[in-house]
Amino acid sequence: MSHGAIPMADRADPIGPTEVAPVDRPLWHGRFAADPAPEMLAFTASIGFDLRLVPDDVAGSRAHVVMLARVGLLTEDERDRVLAALDQVEEEFGAGTFRIAETDEDVHTAVERRVTEIAGSAGAKLHTGRSRNDQVATDLRLWLRREGRDTALAIDRFQRVLLRRAEQAGDTYLPGYTHLQRAQPVLLAHHLLAHLFALARDVDRWRDCLRRADVSPLGAGALAGSSLPLDVDGVARDLGFAARFDNSIDAVSDRDFVAEALFVAALTQVHLSRIGMEVVLWASDEFGFLGLPDAYSTGSSMLPQKKNPDIGELVRGRAGRLIGELAGFLATLKGLPLSYNLDLQDDKEPLFDALDTLRKALAALGGLLDACTFDDQRMRAAADGPTSSATDLAEFLVEAGMAFRDAHALVGALVRRSLDGEARLADLVAAEPALGPDALRFLEPGAAVKRRTTPGGAGPEPVAVEFDAARDHLATQAGWLAG
Ligand code: ARG
Repeated sequence: MSHGAIPMADRADPIGPTEVAPVDRPLWHGRFAADPAPEMLAFTASIGFDLRLVPDDVAGSRAHVVMLARVGLLTEDERDRVLAALDQVEEEFGAGTFRIAETDEDVHTAVERRVTEIAGSAGAKLHTGRSRNDQVATDLRLWLRREGRDTALAIDRFQRVLLRRAEQAGDTYLPGYTHLQRAQPVLLAHHLLAHLFALARDVDRWRDCLRRADVSPLGAGALAGSSLPLDVDGVARDLGFAARFDNSIDAVSDRDFVAEALFVAALTQVHLSRIGMEVVLWASDEFGFLGLPDAYSTGSSMLPQKKNPDIGELVRGRAGRLIGELAGFLATLKGLPLSYNLDLQDDKEPLFDALDTLRKALAALGGLLDACTFDDQRMRAAADGPTSSATDLAEFLVEAGMAFRDAHALVGALVRRSLDGEARLADLVAAEPALGPDALRFLEPGAAVKRRTTPGGAGPEPVAVEFDAARDHLATQAGWLAG
């Protein structure tokens, strides 16, 4: 059986036509007398999901081959032939003409096989001093560096929608809820900004997790480094990593960066799921706070009147999927002996899916929030219910010198009597000697929200300051995301 890659070494034009000679033996064939069983390859190969690492694999290989030439392990001519072949692989991949051979186990073997077809003997030197173990860790860190930042950028865009809607909300207020029971009126802007601040912590987490991922594993080899004079620091620098590994065993074993990214993705999606749930609730007839934009909702196949908040539901539901990806991957890592084990190959599907899912959710839910309507009248009417000022009545009594616990009991009894049908709360308040007609101003529509004046509170005064804090967060984020 011939192995298709080697004869290409004699080609006059190293970057010639791209038809693939049949390759029927894997790159590690030397030690093996028998060919791999198809069902083994079908089970163990990662090529079905790791091809999206091609740009990163090519980038890592470029830096590696430049380093090999720098330390004298490749001639300049060999380096240039490999670099040209890598260019061609990237082009073929971009054009969709990159062909996978039957024995390509993963992105690394596919790229190297193709480079060797194109560059011949020079290509056969590409893997000098390198293992797929340090290579895949390098590729995935490069991938996460780009895609993690892109995800943070998508969160930032989503936050800017929240900010804009909060700015437009003006003095609109709605009931704030605890236990999903009406509690105290809050400005709509305050409610929307609550979600913005949660997401600001997520952006900060992305930044922190990407900082720890910014370490080059290249040069760790299979697990122990190399006897060859590799410039491990130089290659890390060329790839733009902030540092290189300290320990070669750790470099090929460590997937903390994947676990962290899965956690931050899951938590971000959990935050979105809470918004999704509110969209579902607020769009219901029962609440009627939010009008779904046609372009961001769907109809029912049977019920002609229906308009469904699909985005809110799927954003909510898919938090379960991301939590599962995090929990599943932690289970994969648990108890793995050092150093590299093929279990680690299964880091990619959850990571790719988590970031894809999250970014689609941000785009869809962001579009919905950008285009939805808020029903100011419905919100105000719900917030101006007779009991929404109960806390203000109690606090009025406190200012007049009554102990809070006594004030709480007094107002609670008035509420109970009015709910029992004895009289309207306003009449009971007016008739109550400790309160009297003077206290009726607290029951005026919109009075309660204006009285939330403490820093970080839900009324107009603190919310004006809160806007500054939100804008500060976005400015800090923008600085990082642009850098
Ligand atoms: N496809 C593997 C992965 O994704 C690359 C490293 C495989 N190493 C090995 N010795 N089989 O992790």
